[in-house]
Amino acid sequence: MKDPVLEIRDLNVDYGLGDQAVHAVRDVSLTLHRGEVLGLAGESGSGKSTLAYGLTRLLPPPGVIRGGQVIYHPAAGPAYDVMALSHAELRAFRWAETSIVFQGAMNSLNPVYKVSTQLLDVIRAHEPRMPASARLARARELLRLVGIAADRMDSYPHQLSGGMRQRVMIGMALALEPQIVIMDEPTTALDVVMQRQILRQLIELRERLGFSVLFITHDLSLLVEFSDRIAIMYGGRIVEEAPAPALYRDSLHPYSDGLLHSFPALRGERRELTGIPGSPPDLRNMPTGCSFHPRCSKAFEPCPDRVPVLGHPRTPDGRTRTVACWLHPATG
Ligand SMILES: Nc1ncnc2c1ncn2[C@@H]1O[C@H](COP(=O)(O)OP(=O)(O)OP(=O)(O)O)[C@@H](O)[C@H]1O
Ligand SMILES: [Mg+2]
Repeated sequence: MKDPVLEIRDLNVDYGLGDQAVHAVRDVSLTLHRGEVLGLAGESGSGKSTLAYGLTRLLPPPGVIRGGQVIYHPAAGPAYDVMALSHAELRAFRWAETSIVFQGAMNSLNPVYKVSTQLLDVIRAHEPRMPASARLARARELLRLVGIAADRMDSYPHQLSGGMRQRVMIGMALALEPQIVIMDEPTTALDVVMQRQILRQLIELRERLGFSVLFITHDLSLLVEFSDRIAIMYGGRIVEEAPAPALYRDSLHPYSDGLLHSFPALRGERRELTGIPGSPPDLRNMPTGCSFHPRCSKAFEPCPDRVPVLGHPRTPDGRTRTVACWLHPATG
């Protein structure tokens, strides 16, 4: 296994306080390794964005981090807990180490400035001492990296297609040469062909530049194609985590299985799209026991009463898997 770059340990995030609090992220532990693409999937409301905002401490009120650690391992120097940083240290961490492309980010380019101006601003903020000519060369290079011809630099955002605007956002995120890139549904507003083209480029860049990616989407078929490992979230908890091929071939949690049958895969065998019956749980009124049990066709005796914890059962072929389901109790 590669070295960890980010270790999330028992992270809990609420919206609101006291009796009114909604537990949006519950006891999440998840590790991102150096150079890997980790996919995070789950239906709307499962807590994916809350986790991304929480771990970077960008959570807007009424969000509160109730507990947990996020241990960051820089390329050089000792590891530290992002949750324990002062505001000044946090700024440095965000600038130098992580970049986030937020949900709907393609619409966050400023419409009144040219793409070049916005990109140069980011580079200037990151490298204030870089000469203007070098900044311009860097901006051109970044656009080329994300597949945009340099002659589009002087366009205004509205003169670019949605896919191009999204690539500009990715270019801006990479301008900071981050160790970690977090992408929250970066491509959902685009058609499937464009989504895959952008993702393919991102993976190529990852191989060249060596950053790690946390990629968030509700479309599990995209993750199966593009990530190394996949974590599945339901009702604020991680319910399964596995290498992408293992999850696709042989998912253990009935919810993962339901998600795999909810989106058409572009490659591989055809699967019947059966979807998942019912709707995601209401966080204010969570089902008892396993929060998926009311929708689960395989639910049995323990499921309505006892919350399954994320354990590491062994499969018959001797592999260790990671799942929170009473069908697969951990063997110790
Ligand atoms: N500002 C808020 N106040 C109260 N509850 C909130 C707030 N923001 C989010 N939530 C709740 O937290 C839960 C998780 O939301 P979150 O946005 O993290 O889900 P998500 O998995 O990113 O969903 P999507 O796929 O729709 O982006 C949801 O039930 C949501 O209603
Ligand atoms: Mg979201």
